[in-house]
Amino acid sequence: MATSKPKAKRPAVKAKATKPKAAARGRKPAPKRPTKAAPAASAASGATTDIESVLNERRIFAPSASFAAKAHVPSIAKHKALSKRAVENPEAFWGEMAKNVDWIKPWKKVLDWKPPFARWFDGGLLNLSANCVDRHAATWRKNKAAIVWEGEPGDERVLTYGDLLREVSRFANVLKSLGVEKGDRVAIYMPMIPELPIALLACTRIGATHSVIFGGFSAEALRDRINDAQATAVITADGGWRRGAEVALKPQVDAAISGAPSVRHVVVVKRTGTAIHMEPGRDHWWHDLVEGASPNCPPEPVESEHPLFILYTSGTTGKPKGVVHTTGGYLVQTTLTTKWVFDLKEKDVFFCTADVGWVTGHSYVVYGPLANGATVVMYEGAPKHADPARFWKIIEKHRVTIFYTAPTAIRAFMKWGAEWPRKYDLSSLRLLGTVGEPINPEAWMWYRREIGADRCPIVDTWWQTETGAIMITPLPGAVPTKPGSGTLPFPGIVPEVVTRDGDPVPAGSGGLLVIRKPWPGMLRTIHGDPERYKQQYWSQIPGTYFTGDGARCDKDGYFWIMGRVDDVINVAGHRLGTMEIESALVSHTRVAEAAVVPRPDDLKGQAVVAFVTLESGYHADPALKDELKRHVVKEIGAIARPDEIRFSDALPKTRSGKIMRRLLRDIASGKQSIGDTTTLEDLSVLAKLREEEE
Ligand code: WT7
Repeated sequence: MATSKPKAKRPAVKAKATKPKAAARGRKPAPKRPTKAAPAASAASGATTDIESVLNERRIFAPSASFAAKAHVPSIAKHKALSKRAVENPEAFWGEMAKNVDWIKPWKKVLDWKPPFARWFDGGLLNLSANCVDRHAATWRKNKAAIVWEGEPGDERVLTYGDLLREVSRFANVLKSLGVEKGDRVAIYMPMIPELPIALLACTRIGATHSVIFGGFSAEALRDRINDAQATAVITADGGWRRGAEVALKPQVDAAISGAPSVRHVVVVKRTGTAIHMEPGRDHWWHDLVEGASPNCPPEPVESEHPLFILYTSGTTGKPKGVVHTTGGYLVQTTLTTKWVFDLKEKDVFFCTADVGWVTGHSYVVYGPLANGATVVMYEGAPKHADPARFWKIIEKHRVTIFYTAPTAIRAFMKWGAEWPRKYDLSSLRLLGTVGEPINPEAWMWYRREIGADRCPIVDTWWQTETGAIMITPLPGAVPTKPGSGTLPFPGIVPEVVTRDGDPVPAGSGGLLVIRKPWPGMLRTIHGDPERYKQQYWSQIPGTYFTGDGARCDKDGYFWIMGRVDDVINVAGHRLGTMEIESALVSHTRVAEAAVVPRPDDLKGQAVVAFVTLESGYHADPALKDELKRHVVKEIGAIARPDEIRFSDALPKTRSGKIMRRLLRDIASGKQSIGDTTTLEDLSVLAKLREEEE
């Protein structure tokens, strides 16, 4: 972590980070319930510009000796040594790590940094599909399973590295035959089927830049993104399966393309077999084109800084924000993080539940694992189909060893009940991971106990679409974990918690999370808008990358992410991270999930409104509202007491599982018209929340 001495501008805040003691060394985990610190309100210090941290988690879990003994990074001493070297001489460190990937021509310079524009491994030539496929297909791994795929209806396909080489090469030739050239943009709008990674890898094989648009987006959202990228081809399917029903894709593509003149060709995979319109001359069936394509397609060498993909991320304004990633640096960091964070070994079976429509799917379903020659499990559908045990069945059946999912999913598993995972044999698992949101300690403990049998380390990995790869994370054989903390920076990454002016805050205080030094997987720009890139990421806190997240760093150098700073609530001058109040609510036995938002309040500035989903079997009754308010006061302090509690069957979420607090804010403040809902997963949730109001 950062080495600069904190300059206290105001007295330290609430949370007294407690030095972990016995539990770290003992075999038995610390007691289930931590002792909470004194209520926050007692230390209140008036108005402040920083975020106050009130969460105080003291449990700690050291890596087991047996896990550590075999790990790539086997001790905290080794972790420290690596980090020290990486921070002192980042170029030497990353230059050495870059040897994990195959270069056609070596780079001349590790880093060319003209803030805020970085060039990594300049002068180097490589090909990404050659790294993910050819170099394994050329060895005994030719017959190793690369992708073990399961469709939602239960159909299965296994592709070895040899198969993948053939299919990727054929589809690369198809793209060429359609006139797609190096540097062209290809939009990909597909279900989670094997043709999706094949399409990605085929683009990289010829140097085309892909832009995956999540299959749940509307035609309108798709059109905006195609137009912004000026894509010349679209790869899609007739539809896909989700929750037992067909999700139509091709009709959305037709609607989108009517307003997207750059598109010349559409390739359609037949997945559901439903009747669709095929526009002569423009639309082609995948199977027809591939049938006639040669399985030989030499990988095109590209510059390290060649644009690999554009991925659109939820901006607050209407204009899509296309995050641009390039080839060499991205591959170096995804390859290395997959190996060290997931402690990946030859025989592992890696199951990341993310959709390839999100960055997690790009980096940890496709590129990171395949670059390492791993076996990846890929699943098409919903976790609850045909019953809430689907993931556990998949784990049992394919003997999954590493499982990587999101806190929102874990909270859903909790809500559905531990009886589901208990029915299946999960003993193949050896490591668990989470990503996407802060994980509340209760969910972390449940995950560890019910899925990991108190045996598997948990890696809580913090990163962003913009960072390309994991940034803050435990290395499981080295770093003792604390529930709810992403723990330490990955070697070579330099995060810090600062004030609005960029000054470090004291240990334990809340502040803004920044990254001090460039890293190989970082975004290079916003597609077509370098000014926005500068403004959004590099200008808010001068001279440094601002993540948009609030965080605190405790005395042990552990990072605790408090969520987006936009989600902060200002109660009588205290800026509270909503995540911590949510965490307190979820620690109540009856609560499955909670979302906390502000509502304007004449007296306090903002009042705290909590939307709460109960565990199955519990009923919403008024007495419970008071009990929950008291519970928050007990856990955190009077300052965080919710002014209003609303029960709800479900919370509005994006399709990647993030709670859309923006919509809840509107509902809480009684606004009639609600902002952009195109990324909302289930519109009926909103209608129900509205009814609640009546
Ligand atoms: C934002 C990035 C990175 C892949 C998926 C999301 C939040 C992500 C964690 C974590 C706490 C997390 C942050 C971040 N986030 N991982 N382990 N602990 N918060 O990518 O959609 O770009 O979102 O997700 O707020 O900034 P994304």
